[in-house]
Amino acid sequence: MDIRFQNLGTEQWKGDILLAPACQGEALLDQFPELDKVAPWLVIAPALRDFKGKQGELALLHGHPDLAVPRVLAVGLGPREKVTTDIIRKAVAAAVQLCRKQGYTSMVLPEPALARLPGGRERLVEECVCSALLALYSFTTLKKADADEIPAPQWLAVAFDGQEVPDAAHAAARRGENAAWAVSLARDLATTPSNLLYPDLLAQKAQELAREKGFACTVLDETELEKEGMGCLMAVGQGSGRPPRLIVLEHAPQGHEQDKPLVLVGKGITFDSGGISLKPAANMHQMKADMTGAATVLATVAALAQEDAPRRVVGLLACAENMPGGRAVRPGDVVRAANGDTVEIQNTDAEGRLALCDALAYAQKNWVPAAVIDIATLTGACAVALGTQLAGLFSDDADLAERIRAAGGACGEEYWPLPLWKPYTENLKSEVADICHMGPREGGAINAALFLQHFIQEGVRWAHLDIAGVDWAAKATPLVPVGPTAFGARTLLDLARGGV
Ligand code: BES
Ligand code: MN
Ligand code: ZN
Repeated sequence: MDIRFQNLGTEQWKGDILLAPACQGEALLDQFPELDKVAPWLVIAPALRDFKGKQGELALLHGHPDLAVPRVLAVGLGPREKVTTDIIRKAVAAAVQLCRKQGYTSMVLPEPALARLPGGRERLVEECVCSALLALYSFTTLKKADADEIPAPQWLAVAFDGQEVPDAAHAAARRGENAAWAVSLARDLATTPSNLLYPDLLAQKAQELAREKGFACTVLDETELEKEGMGCLMAVGQGSGRPPRLIVLEHAPQGHEQDKPLVLVGKGITFDSGGISLKPAANMHQMKADMTGAATVLATVAALAQEDAPRRVVGLLACAENMPGGRAVRPGDVVRAANGDTVEIQNTDAEGRLALCDALAYAQKNWVPAAVIDIATLTGACAVALGTQLAGLFSDDADLAERIRAAGGACGEEYWPLPLWKPYTENLKSEVADICHMGPREGGAINAALFLQHFIQEGVRWAHLDIAGVDWAAKATPLVPVGPTAFGARTLLDLARGGV
């Protein structure tokens, strides 16, 4: 769907349908005076009398079919004082899905109406554009085309009332479009089954994107990983016929080549069977999405290159397939990490932290990061603690943590702080090696985070995002179908745009 603008004055707005966001307890025509000119017939539209503006309420109102805007979709937001950006996002997505169902080809989104809502007018343009596009997202590449499927609307126009469209609105719409593009890319990658996306294929995909969007991409194969001393990442992948890869991305725009980069590290387990510590069968297919962290990092770097963001960003995707097999790593094995420490592996299902620790060491060896942020579907314990709507946020850097929380909050990805509780480092003591990769079940998400922190040097700004629990939608909403959510992609993009 194209995103366009109209600025010819209300009387000349044009499209199959106008989306009219409306608060509860205020007459639609009172809160939206422009409607008088676009759709004067509304005053006598009987269905409008029943419209209350409740959150989630949609009312489809028909005028004469020959009008420039023959229909209005009143979109309820609930009482004005309770309206949030999230409510607006979901309402727009639901409205767009209804328009699709009805077969409308074009939609008008009135900017003056957005400007009167809380949330900031440019931000709302960005959010509405992004939500409208995500409302139409689906993973279709592996299914026969459905002959009965109603085509998606062709365009959505952000409409201004006879004023030139401000540059800021253009920029906001572009940000929204690019964010939706990044989320869609990350969802596509996470949804693609593991027989069609394993470490080497993900590396090829990254290289394709790098050529297309203009960022750098180098891939370390198993020989190079060995040379770099990445014994942990190698161990995770050694039971699989598909060898591991470290995919290194860099967006270094002109004039920023020498800046300290923001380094993003993503867990890229293209399938997590648990290895020798095999997982139970129920829902194991969801472990094709155990590379969501890597997918969001790749999508973020590609989107930044695509919009030519003035920010140096490095992305590291730690990719492996965790499988049982004759050569698989065993519980009790000891391997050497890239920082030189020996690591005892007790449960081969705690593989994510092993893949990540080598990438974290590599990041600090090769760059002087402005900050390091890793993102991973790391622990079931985090999902148990925070449920399916909150991601775990670990950081000893209060400023970095607050920026992440704020960036996430603004785009509908919520984080909740969890502690890097120092006394629990005791849990990671090993009888036989420098460190054990895991502790007891109790505090499982914290133990994992503390293991990662062991690989962070003094003075390096670092945050760890545990997205297990939020990476997979079990129920569809207007913004996310069942399956991978790509949670984190928008946060990382916003952080890089905002200059963390
Ligand atoms: N990928 C899983 C975590 C996960 C679980 C993500 C459910 C999404 C949904 C991770 O590799 C894992 O298996 N973690 C173990 C660690 C344990 C063995 C210490 C877990 O959480 O059970
Ligand atoms: Mn696992
Ligand atoms: Zn995993």
